[in-house]
Amino acid sequence: RLMPWRKKWIDPSEWQGKEEDGKKEIARRAYEVWVSEVMLQQTRVSTVIPYFNNWISKWATVQDLANAKHEDVLSVWKGLGYYSRATRLHQGAKDMVEENDKDCPIPSGAQELQKFSGIGRYTAGAISSIAFGEAEPVLDGNVARVLSRQLGLFADVKDKKTSDFLWKVADRLIRQVSGYPETKRSAIPGQWNQALMELGSTICTPKPKCDECPIQKTCRAYAEGQELSKRDKKDT
Ligand code: ADE
Repeated sequence: RLMPWRKKWIDPSEWQGKEEDGKKEIARRAYEVWVSEVMLQQTRVSTVIPYFNNWISKWATVQDLANAKHEDVLSVWKGLGYYSRATRLHQGAKDMVEENDKDCPIPSGAQELQKFSGIGRYTAGAISSIAFGEAEPVLDGNVARVLSRQLGLFADVKDKKTSDFLWKVADRLIRQVSGYPETKRSAIPGQWNQALMELGSTICTPKPKCDECPIQKTCRAYAEGQELSKRDKKDT
């Protein structure tokens, strides 16, 4: 299930090599992914949707956002909380427009993306995979839970060592599903990453619905009856 505003999916391999129109379209989509992922970081999907639509109707491109007044940015963000997210997004847009290509100011690579304010490893992976079709991993709390249950890690996913390991797992997986070593841009990385996020937020939740899980058969935690971590058990 794609986010509602991502229903009109464009396969990234289709726009590759296209001229200016194609470039602008990709830039627009990359910007939409950026804005929505930042909004979704501490806020649920149903809350984000009206804010996202309102934001895009005011500032449809990175350039529009770069030219916005900061007080307007904060007032449109009002209600979402964590205002530093809005400030960093605005600063990142200004820096991008200053430094980069006018038609596509947003770079495609995860490394490049992380140089900008408001873009961490997760957001960089999301933009790069979903908008640009590159084989880049994402890891958030939901994805970490899915992967650690599948592997039967029984480790604290908040621990830095565990998350470093899970980033490596996520990276290997996405390369594999994207056809490594002959990886080229495609819809697969974005769909894969979003499927993991979705599974983690709907089925493989802290109190999981294992009966509905499409990958129950390969789940080590389920096989060992250990799908509830100690912390999850306390809540039940
Ligand atoms: N939660 C945050 N970003 C998401 C995405 N791209 N797909 C599904 N759930 C998400």
